[in-house]
Amino acid sequence: MSNIERQEIRSLQPGQKTTLFRAINQLKQNGIYEKFVNWHGIAMMTKAGTELFGSIRNLAHYSPVFLPWHREYLIRFENALREIDTSISLPYWDWTIDAEFQDPPTSIIWTEDFLGGRNPTQNGLVTDGPFKNWKFSLNIPGNPREAYLRRDFDNAIQLPFRRDVELVIKNNLLEYDKPPWDGNQDYNSFRISLERPIHNPVHNWVGGTMEEAYSPGDPVFFLHHCNIDRIWANWQRKHNYLDRYPANDKIRDRRGRIIPFTNRNHKMFPWNDINDNTHKRVQQVLDFTQYYEYREYYVP
Ligand code: CU
Ligand code: CU
Repeated sequence: MSNIERQEIRSLQPGQKTTLFRAINQLKQNGIYEKFVNWHGIAMMTKAGTELFGSIRNLAHYSPVFLPWHREYLIRFENALREIDTSISLPYWDWTIDAEFQDPPTSIIWTEDFLGGRNPTQNGLVTDGPFKNWKFSLNIPGNPREAYLRRDFDNAIQLPFRRDVELVIKNNLLEYDKPPWDGNQDYNSFRISLERPIHNPVHNWVGGTMEEAYSPGDPVFFLHHCNIDRIWANWQRKHNYLDRYPANDKIRDRRGRIIPFTNRNHKMFPWNDINDNTHKRVQQVLDFTQYYEYREYYVP
């Protein structure tokens, strides 16, 4: 059992928010934050499997490892924050609350006391709040460059509703994942039903930085993924599936070859140095209860 409890960002005390945002800015200043951004970018830009056509799988998305990879990534980020202040636990952003609003960009989430950026400037720059005017050096192979934190709030996209989330959690017929283990399924597994129609639109709704391979450049990434992880955790608990993931070496591409960094006995990329025993295997993150718990939040 863990003493880390992750809460909805709206339920944090003002002092807890200040501590959290200060710690995030500290990681930004000492270069650790950009290391996280680049880890995500390189995993996302590395194709997984040897299919010649038809797969959009990469080492962190559109494969069964999508959920364990982001779980491990969040644990690492939370640990980095807790090295600065041990009172911190990562909050989640339950966007199903905002989905009900007439005009979601007016949510308290985007005010100066929370994540800022309610009124991005014309090119989407975030010029207020704790992360105002953030700038990154992106270590993109073949295309290193600088970028600013940007958001667009695309109201043409609908944030997922609570019932959408409840449906995937309650559906007893859903397996965790199925061949061909990629992004091209007919929503017949839990992972793809969560990844495509629920996880993706939130990136696209926030827009700007959140739509790029370096999407963790926007700190809301971590809150969004924490909510995705919470939905997986709720599904695991509801069905008593804490250890459910395809068997060793079962995840293979269409040519029958084991897809590296995705099977339950594999370490994940780019944390795969076999001699470093701080790197976990997929199976070691399935039971989240050893790392943290989620506190549910109800709209008053
Ligand atoms: Cu990602
Ligand atoms: Cu994502």
